[in-house]
Amino acid sequence: MPTLTINGRSMSVDAANDTPLLWAIREQLQMTGTKFGCGAGLCGACTVHVNGEAVRSCQTMVGDVAGKKITTIEGLSAKGDHPLQKAWIAEQVPQCGYCQSGQIMQAASLLAKNANPTKEEVVAHMDGNLCRCMTYSRIQKAIMRAATEMRTASAAGNERRHT
Ligand code: FES
Ligand code: FES
Repeated sequence: MPTLTINGRSMSVDAANDTPLLWAIREQLQMTGTKFGCGAGLCGACTVHVNGEAVRSCQTMVGDVAGKKITTIEGLSAKGDHPLQKAWIAEQVPQCGYCQSGQIMQAASLLAKNANPTKEEVVAHMDGNLCRCMTYSRIQKAIMRAATEMRTASAAGNERRHT
């Protein structure tokens, strides 16, 4: 029975090593923020982080992530107030919402590494996350807004530390 570390908690799952992580997250652990879209690595609805990298959980096997740090949308921020989540609300991004947790997790992996992405970098990074409702322009605006907010917060923190 593999033990997974999800959102900082250790959880045992009754699953074979070749079970997709998505099934363990949704069916066994009842963490339904992560969505099942295509099941074939083509849509990004199932995106979670493994050691900070965005991965497709429908294509990631439970046995390959035991001992690694898994983060789902439920664990992105303790209070649900990650700058991306706030920007998503400010820009009124979702329509049906189905793809959006995957979109946010994909975007979060970009901003963790690149605090000041260009629009082209955002588009390239988000390329594999599909939205049937075509919310792409609002997704891009929200990512740019969150990046600005994160840089502003970081600069303010640095200033406080040096005064
Ligand atoms: S459900 Fe995993 S990529 Fe579509
Ligand atoms: S908001 Fe409906 S699929 Fe993206």
